[in-house]
Amino acid sequence: MQWIDLRSDTVTQPTDEMRAAMAAAPVGDDVYGDDPTVRELEALAAKTMGKQAAMFVPSGTMGNQVSIMTHTRRGDEVICSENAHIVLHEVGATAVLSGVCLRTIKTEDDQLTAETVERAIRPEDIHMPHTGLVEMENALSNGTVMPLEKMKEVYETAHRHGLPVHLDGARIFNAAAALGVEAKEIAQYGDSVMFCLSKGLCAPVGSMVCGSEEFIARARKNRKILGGGMRQCGILAAAGIIAIEKMAKRVTEDHENARYFAQKLAALPGITVDRDAVQISMIFFTIDKGGFDHETFPAAMKEKGILVNGIEDGKYRFVTHYWMGKKEIDQTVDALAQLLA
Ligand SMILES: Cc1ncc(COP(=O)(O)O)c(C=O)c1O
Repeated sequence: MQWIDLRSDTVTQPTDEMRAAMAAAPVGDDVYGDDPTVRELEALAAKTMGKQAAMFVPSGTMGNQVSIMTHTRRGDEVICSENAHIVLHEVGATAVLSGVCLRTIKTEDDQLTAETVERAIRPEDIHMPHTGLVEMENALSNGTVMPLEKMKEVYETAHRHGLPVHLDGARIFNAAAALGVEAKEIAQYGDSVMFCLSKGLCAPVGSMVCGSEEFIARARKNRKILGGGMRQCGILAAAGIIAIEKMAKRVTEDHENARYFAQKLAALPGITVDRDAVQISMIFFTIDKGGFDHETFPAAMKEKGILVNGIEDGKYRFVTHYWMGKKEIDQTVDALAQLLA
């Protein structure tokens, strides 16, 4: 059965072109620095992000964690949004792996501001932890995009205090498309940036960490500590090259489909969509209709061949991607209309 899968952009499967490139990729032992396809991917990633160097890692989580480990010392505090991916969805890895605390900032839209960061930076005081890093996300997990000006202000505030900035750019190409800029214009506001190849870009595995040559050299050692040194991973890097060169350029289609989806969903009885929050490929909505069974909703949709996540924090999230076009969207809206009838 061919599922309609709206749970995430992580469900994307590699394209035929990727599968062919993977089969043909020249490879070597990457821990020895011998894999030509990985070298090519790393050079491409660094250039795309406007950085000196880049490193291939198995996942976005490892990319964020290896960056945090490389920037900080044990006992440091990392300033980030209270709903950042590193807070909610990385299993407390910052504490386990780097021994750092997270100083989480509450803002209405989950975006850091220069003012909130300035207030959170610790003064020199024997009782207090040392602030070691500021972390931003763009695009955010809530589907919104942080404007460049806001990022610049946060970055300059951190630097004024001698603090590095790490950017979780898991979906940096979505943010770039939404802002109408190149990814490197966003990446300039991170001393390190992590981005994912295996979200809406269809690569099966992998993320990149980019930064200065000196930073990446230290991050490579930390990647080895975390067990992330891979061998003939040019097989995976081959798909990553296509992800950056081709797939990153088509995410505007996913955004357009998300807006189409939002408009159709909003027309259904009991559904409320925050249309202003549909800035990338994610649609968040509520279903408020007497008799609607939230518990069984994912199972009911599955029976119709559609995979969706359950309600989280009162909201549902659908995500568009390469394999979810207008046909699949129309089919989903029809199925949902039946359930709501
Ligand atoms: C904003 C953000 N950062 C990091 C990650 C982690 O990526 P991975 O699932 O590859 O570990 C994700 C995953 O969805 C994410 O949404």
